Amino acid sequence: MSAKIFDGRAFSEKIYKNLKARVKKLKARGIVPSLAIFSSEGSLAAESFVRSKIKDSEKIGMSCRAVQMSSFSRLKNYARAIENAVKDKKIHALILIKPLPSGLDMEKLENLIAPEKDAEGLSPAHFGRLFGARDFDEIKEKRLIVPATALAIAEILKELSFPFKGKKALVIGRSNIVGNPAAHLLTMMDLTVTLAHSKTRDLRKEVEESDIVVSAVGSPHLVKGSWIKKGAVVIDAGTSAVQGKLTGDIDFDGALKKAAWITPVPGGVGPVTTACLLRNVVFLAERALQK
Ligand SMILES: NC(=O)c1ccc[n+]([C@@H]2O[C@H](COP(=O)([O-])OP(=O)(O)OC[C@H]3O[C@@H](n4cnc5c(N)ncnc54)[C@H](OP(=O)(O)O)[C@@H]3O)[C@@H](O)[C@H]2O)c1
Repeated sequence: MSAKIFDGRAFSEKIYKNLKARVKKLKARGIVPSLAIFSSEGSLAAESFVRSKIKDSEKIGMSCRAVQMSSFSRLKNYARAIENAVKDKKIHALILIKPLPSGLDMEKLENLIAPEKDAEGLSPAHFGRLFGARDFDEIKEKRLIVPATALAIAEILKELSFPFKGKKALVIGRSNIVGNPAAHLLTMMDLTVTLAHSKTRDLRKEVEESDIVVSAVGSPHLVKGSWIKKGAVVIDAGTSAVQGKLTGDIDFDGALKKAAWITPVPGGVGPVTTACLLRNVVFLAERALQK
């Protein structure tokens, strides 16, 4: 058996088709949806993350600007730059990406991003709405702002011809940006979800018993191909640089022999995450117009 490889780029194009029409409508009213990405200089992964957002934004007529902070920036400089962007009416959304200069507190800076400009949906107002939603359809209907990678994972699963309702899913990683909201979304899609983390006693057993395995850790080849259940769906959100190459959490070649579907790294979750993030920006720009 050889798994089907999910084409994240092709799927993101489907999302962009709909998004382009929304951007066009906003532009007709003089609004160019605009995202500001704050990152620190010196990280190749961050640079590649920013490049892909700028490239896709341009493709659909949005604006995306990189605000690159010095790796020696102090908290007050970072905070001032974020506060200025929050006040700037031409910027509809902001995100802050890791790594930050050493010693800076991510949470303190994230708290400066007002919910109406929070493109990742990490502020309590967005998180509360996400965890209070009745089901996945409500999230879509109300255009809630959901962490983009978590939403990308759920959207990918929905896109596959795989009868996932009631099946056992394992999400590895419990951060607020990926694992935790992904586990919640899959629960709302009627899967039976286990959330694993660094203290999980027997990860291998959890993987072996799961029909869907989602990994969001950032540990190359943490999950061995031989652990994957025959016919499972494997969604790898992990990204680590190994000898200059982007590598996932799951042993791709091994898992390919066992799974029914698998997402590659790069080219799987990543492009869909970009599309979901840009869609959040468009939603925020639309809401700003309604105020
Ligand atoms: N594809 C994309 O677009 C995209 C977007 C965002 C993030 N990512 C990637 O997703 C990965 C996770 O990012 P993050 O920001 O969520 O990272 P994070 O905040 O560092 O969280 C990592 C999670 O992995 C868990 N973990 C660590 N070692 C483990 C182990 N041996 N077994 C099981 N769980 C383990 C941690 O458990 P504890 O909670 O117990 O510490 C934690 O919950 C990274 O590779 C990141 O680059 C990809």
